[in-house]
Amino acid sequence: MLTPPVSPGTFIGSVLFAPISASLRPVFLCLSALVATTGASFADDASDLVARGRYLATAADCAACHTAPHGGTPFAGGYGIDTPLGKIFSTNITPSKEDGIGNYSEEDFARAVREGVAKDGSHLYPAMPYTAYAKITDDDMKALYAYFMNGVKPDDHKPQKTELPFPFSIRTSMAVWNLLFLDKTRFQPNSAKSAEWNRGAYLADALEHCSTCHTPRNAFMAEDASQPLAGGSVGSWYAPNITSDKVAGIGGWSDDELIRYLKTGNVAGKAQAAGPMAEAVENSLQHLSDDDLKAIVTYLRDVPAIASGDKPSRAELGKPSSVVEASLRGLPGQMADENGYHVFSGSCAACHQVEGQGNDHYPSLFHNTATGEDRPDNLVSTILYGLHRTVGDHVAFMPAFGPDASFTDRLSDKDIADVSNYVLANYGNPAVKVTPADVVRIRDGGEKPLIVKLAPLAAPAAIAITVIVLALIIWLLSRRRSRPALG
Ligand code: HEC
Ligand code: HEC
Ligand code: HEC
Repeated sequence: MLTPPVSPGTFIGSVLFAPISASLRPVFLCLSALVATTGASFADDASDLVARGRYLATAADCAACHTAPHGGTPFAGGYGIDTPLGKIFSTNITPSKEDGIGNYSEEDFARAVREGVAKDGSHLYPAMPYTAYAKITDDDMKALYAYFMNGVKPDDHKPQKTELPFPFSIRTSMAVWNLLFLDKTRFQPNSAKSAEWNRGAYLADALEHCSTCHTPRNAFMAEDASQPLAGGSVGSWYAPNITSDKVAGIGGWSDDELIRYLKTGNVAGKAQAAGPMAEAVENSLQHLSDDDLKAIVTYLRDVPAIASGDKPSRAELGKPSSVVEASLRGLPGQMADENGYHVFSGSCAACHQVEGQGNDHYPSLFHNTATGEDRPDNLVSTILYGLHRTVGDHVAFMPAFGPDASFTDRLSDKDIADVSNYVLANYGNPAVKVTPADVVRIRDGGEKPLIVKLAPLAAPAAIAITVIVLALIIWLLSRRRSRPALG
């Protein structure tokens, strides 16, 4: 999930907004001719439902995954999600009867969104976050369906098909996975908590699916229910611990800082949202009402604290450090991180400034969670992929330096490791060290879960077991034959 898809701002204008569906229109006209007032309120109800569905679709960030990058038609699919299993392409969810979900009934739609089963009965991969959407209420599902059928323009377009390697190509295996890991219970309000807390819990857990990124996963790639929001890998990126822990989580952030981060993706002297979090801010969170953002923060504050390795808090590490001071630490050729220093002054200091302190436009590299975290993933990924986040009219942009960068300033794996070490040693968490192999691992989508590491063994293992069983049968048969006849 590296290239930011179109933001809802771009598509909302282009989406056909039908106050009532075409099929209902003649009925509506008849009714309004007879009793004008009844007709009007009927239209209002229908358009209210579609409008509500649109807001819910934004909060659930359906467009982020279902829109191809670089100006793809909204919801027409074709966005390739990099997962440890391989690339999974999203489908066309416009109401196209040919290529989309135009033939889905409300029941079919609800089953796909909440249970991960398509109309034809085939199982979806959990790259579609149905594990979170399972909690969506029936009322909201109705509104979502009304929006997709009447508020989204049909688009006849077949997105690229997903072809995962064996054994993941067998979709029915997801039925077993669902049996083990899919909790189908709808959101249950907690009567001991305030209405605001419950609204926040519903937004975070069901619609915004925060846990699909921020909760660590087990060997089978299911969320580890014992560590909600304690931090998880998202391909090349790392979604940090956002439990209420004061040091490891976001317990030390003020309400205002958290709201600002969710709304804009930038809190000076603390954190900037890049990668998948930039997409969540750009496509979804910035469009939420202030009350809804406040509700999410109220809920986050109350998520049980889970301590992890960050000591002290990742937002507070580092201090300004001058390149002059650094260069005086050794004669040329003797300074341990000399290449890192050169890459830094050549590629980074123009924006982040010579002491890493940043300015009004560019963030400081100390007191920055990407450099203070106890792992280098977000620092290395930001260097590899850059940062692009549009919020309102403001575009935050940092160029990419990795091999996919379209700019001339490409850095080698060693340069990226060296500059990361320079930044970590001078501005961030000096205990973290980066090797060129780490850069390759992160570029390759991060550490693979056990299930993926074992996958290549699936076919040979099946063959090996068959061979052993065959050999046993042959051996038994031959023993029986060679046994001397009794009597
Ligand atoms: C994180 C990415 C992501 C988000 C967010 C997401 N989807 Fe999906 N969705 C996918 C992927 C990927 C598939 C295809 C999965 C597969 O092929 O197994 C999919 C499949 C579907 C399908 C099945 C379509 C078909 O062709 O049968 C429906 C319906 C659907 N999504 C609706 C939604 C709705 C509605 C939302 C918002 C509430 C949403 N999705 C949000 C990734 C996403
Ligand atoms: C698609 C994956 C994804 C989703 C969904 C997501 N996040 Fe994130 N989040 C990330 C990643 C990755 C980062 C690190 C970004 C960076 O440092 O550039 C992050 C960073 C954050 C941070 C800043 C933490 C820090 O120390 O810098 C907060 C706070 C946060 N997310 C809250 C949330 C909340 C609340 C939700 C749900 C409303 C949410 N996120 C949904 C992936 C995600
Ligand atoms: C053209 C200006 C520019 C250059 C050059 C640049 N950056 Fe950035 N950098 C930015 C901007 C802009 C942001 C994000 C600001 C925001 O989010 O509002 C950023 C953010 C970051 C972050 C925080 C990312 C996160 O996920 O929290 C880190 C770390 C970083 N840059 C490191 C570097 C390093 C290391 C280099 C050199 C290899 C570099 N930058 C070069 C402009 C630049």
